[in-house]
Amino acid sequence: MKRPIIAGNWKMFKTPSEGSAFVDEVMKLVLDHEKVDVIFCPPFTALFNMKDAFESGKHFSLGAQNCHWEESGAFTGEISVGMLKDCRVQYVILGHSERRHIFHEPDEWINRKVHSVINGNMTPILCIGETLTQRDEGETEAILDKQLQLGLKGIDSLDNIVIAYEPVWAIGTGLTATPAQVSETHQQVRDILNQLYDTEAVENVAILYGGSVKPENAKELILTQGVDGFLIGGASLKVDSFTTIIENVELSI
Ligand code: 13P
Repeated sequence: MKRPIIAGNWKMFKTPSEGSAFVDEVMKLVLDHEKVDVIFCPPFTALFNMKDAFESGKHFSLGAQNCHWEESGAFTGEISVGMLKDCRVQYVILGHSERRHIFHEPDEWINRKVHSVINGNMTPILCIGETLTQRDEGETEAILDKQLQLGLKGIDSLDNIVIAYEPVWAIGTGLTATPAQVSETHQQVRDILNQLYDTEAVENVAILYGGSVKPENAKELILTQGVDGFLIGGASLKVDSFTTIIENVELSI
């Protein structure tokens, strides 16, 4: 098994001071859990404050939730890869379903961002996933195929990429995909990637699951075939639930 990745996507929660206190507390509690890579993805405003905290543990890193693809320019409200790098950000979540659906980000923009993040020597966490209607209509694989083909267009290596499969219907709803659904879909993701990259690269790429991951289902999900870690929303906001998930994952592997 690969080193599991547990990423907490805070979305639009926590002020910079709340975020720093939270990270300090979590780091103290899981400092010895070195078999798991933990990524904190706070809102942009918290990133600069936090960067010093990330000198200590090798298995902790900082992630952002989005970026713009240009280096600089007249893009009101946007943040560049260089700005994130200055905050010691190592990962950038791209193509999250909330960006796709609420802010109407097309695959073409997501692809530009993937290129910029890789060119900036950071790792994109490329999110993909189907809606409930798409699943019910048997379109899951076609949707994932489109999101992967377009999102990774022109990217010739998977070396510095993490994929996060997040079924839209499981995000923030309390509905979790069953282990059978997760392993089947993660396999579909690998099959799609196998058409684009060589087998070894596809075996090595980390595919995270996201969607109502909590302490109660973390063990079962991390042991599910094809799952290399989690992208967690709600349960990453509380010290108890986030550290328990990290502990459960470390104990399960
Ligand atoms: P929840 O864990 O709250 O369902 O959110 C998942 C998510 O969107 C992580 O990016």
